[in-house]
Amino acid sequence: MEFKEKILVLDFGSQYTQLIARRVREQKVYSEILPYNVTIDRIKEFAPKGIILSGGPSSVYDKEAPLPDKEIFNLGIPVLGICYGMQLMSHMLGGRVAKAAKREYGRAELMIDDDSDLLKGIGMKHRRGMARHAPTVVWMSHGDRIVKYPKGFAPIAHTDNSPVAAMADKQRKFFALQFHPEVAHTENGTKVLKNFVFNICKCKPLWTMKSFIETTVHEIREKVGRDKVVCAISGGVDSAVTAVLMNRAIGKQLTCIFVDNGVLRKGEAVKVETMLKKHFHMNIDCVDAAERFLKKLKNVDDPERKRKIIGNEFIHVFQEEAKKIKDAKYLAQGTLYPDVIESISFKGPSAMIKSHHNVGGLLKNMKLKLIEPLRELFKDEVRVLGRELGMPDEIINRHPFPGPGLAIRIIGAVTPVRADILRQADSIVLEEIKKAGLYDEVWQAFAVLLPIKTVGVMGDERTYENVVAVRAVKSVDGMTADWAKLPYEVLGTISNRIINEVKGVNRVVFDISSKPPSTIEWE
Ligand code: XMP
Repeated sequence: MEFKEKILVLDFGSQYTQLIARRVREQKVYSEILPYNVTIDRIKEFAPKGIILSGGPSSVYDKEAPLPDKEIFNLGIPVLGICYGMQLMSHMLGGRVAKAAKREYGRAELMIDDDSDLLKGIGMKHRRGMARHAPTVVWMSHGDRIVKYPKGFAPIAHTDNSPVAAMADKQRKFFALQFHPEVAHTENGTKVLKNFVFNICKCKPLWTMKSFIETTVHEIREKVGRDKVVCAISGGVDSAVTAVLMNRAIGKQLTCIFVDNGVLRKGEAVKVETMLKKHFHMNIDCVDAAERFLKKLKNVDDPERKRKIIGNEFIHVFQEEAKKIKDAKYLAQGTLYPDVIESISFKGPSAMIKSHHNVGGLLKNMKLKLIEPLRELFKDEVRVLGRELGMPDEIINRHPFPGPGLAIRIIGAVTPVRADILRQADSIVLEEIKKAGLYDEVWQAFAVLLPIKTVGVMGDERTYENVVAVRAVKSVDGMTADWAKLPYEVLGTISNRIINEVKGVNRVVFDISSKPPSTIEWE
């Protein structure tokens, strides 16, 4: 993507690396992450107006300490080192770093010694007409500290434990922070990053979703020309936004293929079709392949086999449909930036986010070329983009839904009857959670059909029926999750409704396990 005002983040493996790029983008300045060992030519080609060196788990004295090309300090552009980034600046520019007497982790009070550039407007309090520095809360996480700062540098802030908690070489526009300005716990962190991006690097806030759409639409048109594109729609946010963006660029040259695999949520196929067809007037091919999938899933109770069967069958169905579209050259896919970073980045903790791709095999077999218009965006940016493209909140704010669908929520073998039971129970869970205004507060909420039967009474009759478990979790990225403390009244209504309305269920239980050690899905 072509943007002139860019900040480059070099990744040394910090869990916060992505957060740095996101904070910069929140200021409407485009930012990308590249691995620490990227070549200087690649950096020059990227042409950033400033470089941020991320934190990382290493110590500069480790044998295999990750170090960037030293030439980054000769490019004549501002550099900001954060935590490990600060230590390596010190190490590479002639200072000295040593193990701190005490590992400093968590909250610390920063005293500002010079607030002229990077720390401008931070920690200043006015009392009785006199300006004076007051400490500001910052987030620390380091085991090493600077004992001698490099030539040209001077300390600009300290804490009780770190005499050099921030330093600057104003001449060369090099700055370094021992603390993490990108995390929310650092009181004035955003202000520090803004100072770097705007006052020091002189960037202008030009990167907006509007500009992203304009540039991307232009790029898609250039790339696709008069060729045809197919796009697999899953009902999730990413594929839907991809399709709508592609549609904005190439209209009827795009055909979306939506496969009903028999393990979708209630009313899902109709909902997706209605949105894309009625609202956006798109070409959409809805394939009812439920029978095919359910046949393949017959008597299969191993979760990984279910996943494989559904993934493979999807590829077959998709291929058959895509073949009908003459001259299809491209496959559009909603790959997001975290997946891209994961595949190119330094394998530190920043590379943890996983995704599940279902369409990998399509490219090879069908000789399609991949087009990934969201590959520079984070998840929350995709939502902003969707809104900007006029998509309804109902689609934009949806909970994630796994590719293998209800199949991995029917514990044991999947049958049409069991899929129906779960579909009904699931729809009640969602309805009641939405009614209670809790939908946006939870990451995912759903029902699971258990492979056991229990005894109950209904009227005068003894019943021996299925058990449904209700699962609701809160999470930021799906990597860890807390079970959601749903109000008893909501749980009560869900339970009553499922038992009364779903034939074949006589008991409802609530899952109170967090991840780890449990996973979000039961299979
Ligand atoms: P777990 O169960 O691993 O789930 O805690 C984390 C997130 O991933 C989703 N998930 C899947 N998504 N295909 C998908 O597309 C899968 O096979 C799959 N398994 C889990 C899950 O819904 C949660 O959001």
